[in-house]
Amino acid sequence: ANYAHVLVSRPQPAVALVQLNRPKALNALSAAHFKDITDALVEADADDSVGAMVLTGSDKAFAAGADILEMKDKTFADAFTNNFLANWEIITKLRKPLIAAVSGYALGGGCELALMCDIILASPTARFSQPEISIGVIPGGGGSQRLTRIVGKSRAMELCLTGRMFDAYEAERWGVVSRVVDGADGAKKEGGTESISPVVKEAVDMAATIASKGRVAAIACKEVINASFEMPLTEGLRYERRLFQSLFATHDQKEGMAAFAEKRKPNFTNS
Ligand code: HXC
Repeated sequence: ANYAHVLVSRPQPAVALVQLNRPKALNALSAAHFKDITDALVEADADDSVGAMVLTGSDKAFAAGADILEMKDKTFADAFTNNFLANWEIITKLRKPLIAAVSGYALGGGCELALMCDIILASPTARFSQPEISIGVIPGGGGSQRLTRIVGKSRAMELCLTGRMFDAYEAERWGVVSRVVDGADGAKKEGGTESISPVVKEAVDMAATIASKGRVAAIACKEVINASFEMPLTEGLRYERRLFQSLFATHDQKEGMAAFAEKRKPNFTNS
């Protein structure tokens, strides 16, 4: 499908790339923009030919937050009755791995959107923050919860109470992002009208690697890691072991282990 506010492409046969495309507003997340993002991701998630997904913005902004102009006159009754922002949870229900490639501003809801992804890669220009306190509110898309689980209480308090920005390297030190991808080996790759930044290229390559593994195992792997945030350790370990055991019912387990024994590459069939 075509979307007004996102671009969807297939940089690799099994990788869907969803790019936020509301540049004049620095990818501020209006309701319509956010619906396009979730619709495009849900569509890719349901597509059998897709093994992993990448979400990115522009060089200047991953996303500068929820659309302040759109929400400034909202009443409590409206926000509460219509369960404002509840639909953000859709992204956390996707089954295939989702990588965020962040350049520029990832602020407020933009930071929270990145935190909902499974892996975050950042370019050196990435700037994160939870600045809601400066406009009279607090994080509403998981910033106080997901960020706190990653960076700990003191840093989460500091970041959410001051609203200050933190850069790609702080984010890397704290484990908010997997790593910073600096464009050392060849700034931008130009190909006709298409240009792809180093961080997006790295994310697409990583997604292609993930997509090359057995699909059933990849989905199970994402599910058990996410379960570690929801379950006590004993339950999480039991859940992991049960899913591990169940993978012995798959063709890909037989194929993967046979390929190792026969010293050849596995031919996974996602079954
Ligand atoms: C609506 C926004 C916007 C936003 C930028 N714009 N951020 N519009 N909502 N969050 C628009 C500006 O109005 C402006 O439009 C254009 O984008 C360019 O922005 P400038 O401010 O002119 O650019 P610059 O001076 O480079 O500053 C960039 C910036 C600043 C530092 C990112 O725009 C900024 O502070 N934005 C707000 C960031 C923020 O507070 N985000 C959190 C929102 S609350 P015009 O038409 O004037 O050119 C939130 C709650 C989340 O996210 C709850 C859970 C989802």
